Amino acid sequence: MLRLAAGLLVAALAAVLLDWYSPSAEQKAPKGRARSFSPQPAPGAEAGNLFWALQISDLHISKFLGPERASDFEKFCMETIPVIQPALTFVTGDLTDSKMKDKLGSDQFEAEWQTYQTILKKSKVMEKTKWIDIKGNHVLPSFFGRKYSAWQKEGSFHYIHSTTFGKYSFICVDATLSPGLKRPYNFFGILNATYIPLDESEKVNLLFQNKMQELSSLAAESHDSNHTIWFGHYPTSAIISASPGIRMAMSSATAYLCGHFHTLGGLMPVLHTRHHHGTLELELGDWMDNRKYRILAFDHDLFSFVDVIFEEWPVVLITNPKPFLYSSSAHEPLQRLLHSTHIRILAFSPSPINLVKVSIDGVHLGDAIQVSGPLYVLKWAPQNYSLGFHQIEVTVQDGSDRSTTQLHTFAMEENLSLKFDLFASWILLTDHYIWVRTVFVLLVALQIVLLIIIRYRRKPTLKYPLGRTMQLSFSLHILSKINLFYYTFLLLNLYTLLGPWFIGEIIDGHIGICFSFGVFVDGHFFEGSTTFLVGIMQVAFFNLPLMAYMCWCLYIRCQGHCFSSHLYHVRLYWVVPIHLIMALLFSWQVYSCYFLLKTYGTIAFFLSPVRTWIVALTVFLFYRAWKLQSSMLRTFILEMKNYQSS
Ligand SMILES: *[C@@H]1O[C@H](CO)[C@@H](O)[C@H](O)[C@H]1NC(C)=O
Ligand SMILES: *[C@@H]1O[C@H](CO)[C@@H](O)[C@H](O)[C@H]1NC(C)=O
Ligand SMILES: *[C@@H]1O[C@H](CO)[C@@H](O)[C@H](O)[C@H]1NC(C)=O
Ligand SMILES: *[C@@H]1O[C@H](CO)[C@@H](O)[C@H](O)[C@H]1NC(C)=O
Repeated sequence: MLRLAAGLLVAALAAVLLDWYSPSAEQKAPKGRARSFSPQPAPGAEAGNLFWALQISDLHISKFLGPERASDFEKFCMETIPVIQPALTFVTGDLTDSKMKDKLGSDQFEAEWQTYQTILKKSKVMEKTKWIDIKGNHVLPSFFGRKYSAWQKEGSFHYIHSTTFGKYSFICVDATLSPGLKRPYNFFGILNATYIPLDESEKVNLLFQNKMQELSSLAAESHDSNHTIWFGHYPTSAIISASPGIRMAMSSATAYLCGHFHTLGGLMPVLHTRHHHGTLELELGDWMDNRKYRILAFDHDLFSFVDVIFEEWPVVLITNPKPFLYSSSAHEPLQRLLHSTHIRILAFSPSPINLVKVSIDGVHLGDAIQVSGPLYVLKWAPQNYSLGFHQIEVTVQDGSDRSTTQLHTFAMEENLSLKFDLFASWILLTDHYIWVRTVFVLLVALQIVLLIIIRYRRKPTLKYPLGRTMQLSFSLHILSKINLFYYTFLLLNLYTLLGPWFIGEIIDGHIGICFSFGVFVDGHFFEGSTTFLVGIMQVAFFNLPLMAYMCWCLYIRCQGHCFSSHLYHVRLYWVVPIHLIMALLFSWQVYSCYFLLKTYGTIAFFLSPVRTWIVALTVFLFYRAWKLQSSMLRTFILEMKNYQSS
């Protein structure tokens, strides 16, 4: 009965989660803003009612690493931009790398910023397109950022692109920390973490709200625009924001463009999803390693985009019919598909385009003809495709004998549904700072509770046969009944939870203190987020294994062995791997001390209880575990002897 109930509960939970994380293509209009769209103008054969923009992200121009990042970027500005001729170009953060040669330290190198600026000037790219660059987590504001970048404004802003056929709003979300923390503590963005005075920490929420209010008023300003696009560096899942939350604030936007995750090092080449209010969230892969960029278009107010790779020509973007997965009836006049007279395609290449071949559901419909610039059209009868899903396939061939095929699924019925990738949605829709916090606290609490409970329970009498569980519980009893080990591990865990981890130069020239729950620096407090992630790593990959290892060592001692004798008498296939794993984890801990030294300076190296001091503590515990003589240990040894002789 209980099992059935539990099973049902799990199934219900799974269903809810699945539903939450697989937003489908069709969405209801956000509350209070049901827009009614006119079916005209519908896509036809003329050149009007169309413009396109470009996005590029995470350039990481570096003084030391990957010199081609900068040279390719120069080529991009010199050659790619003139071919594509976007009305606007967005650079969504991390323009420079700001990392030392050893990849550990982070610093601002003026030279990197100068490289960036020189490329912009030399290529005259700012005369060819409206260039809007924003900062990312690898920038310490107040440094060179503003001086050398194209866009001179600080903070969030609203840019309006006005055309003869309508007004298009672009709103920048600036969630970067100021003052900017060093790696890795800058992984999450915070809305308005600007100087929160320590003594007024209760005002934290209020300040968050200010920044959110600013964004909400920008959103309100954009209500009479045909479309609103938001863009920023951080995905919404990596932004800490006050209620009602950043996703709610941008619910009137058609899409949110961001970067920062670098497609998880290539694991997730497509990180796209949809918020529950219908806004698309589109992460763009990095320029740094993957040379990605994105072209987005508004064609008769239908939004479409394509993510492409540098120097892969020709580039093809089908603007009508647009993909069903990325359609939102709350934000776009989707009925225009049915009223359209032509299939419309943007095709770009430095060489002349020879052929634009169109087929639907495998049936060749003909070749599209050029209207003007990159726009190609082909007459069609949309009524023939008004029911169900259909697949459009466009192949473009250019004068240099290169060809690209682009295909997607479209539909005109509104009651169909397509789902986004579950894992991508999980990554983009979860507020990661909440689960990391929970997991960290649970992990530490689990250890503490276990220690205390075992300490005050009677030690078990060993019975034949000695099973695994019995051995485990016996070794835990040894550890928690010997004062030295009990108090050490209790303190270690409490300290990891509450105490300062290290004191060091968290911002260049400013000493700060790092706790699990946040960072104090220069009289200001930053709420913890990445810190919890670092904490989870520390507990799961060091504190917990260390405790298990000590249990094991003490258990071997109780069998009457010392360090040298256990190497001969205990079965080797146990001993070697256990010592080896611990040695590996230990060297990782030592390496993290080196990281601390390189990143936060010498002070941090010496004043770091949760790094350097733990290394010393481990050596001490290891020595004591093999050398300890105590009456408590003797009673355990006796107990084991009695068992073995019986
Ligand atoms: C943009 O909005 C205006 C006002 O609502 C409308 O008249 C115009 O047709 C729209 N533009 C397009 C391309 O739909
Ligand atoms: C938070 O942001 C608002 C709007 O930009 C600003 O007026 C306010 O001063 C910021 N708060 C702090 C503490 O800087
Ligand atoms: C649409 O379907 C009708 C009837 O099946 C057919 O006669 C017509 O040629 C089709 N039109 C196009 C453009 O495929
Ligand atoms: C979708 O709507 C059409 C009419 O608009 C209807 O004929 C069809 O049965 C509906 N399909 C489903 C699955 O509800």
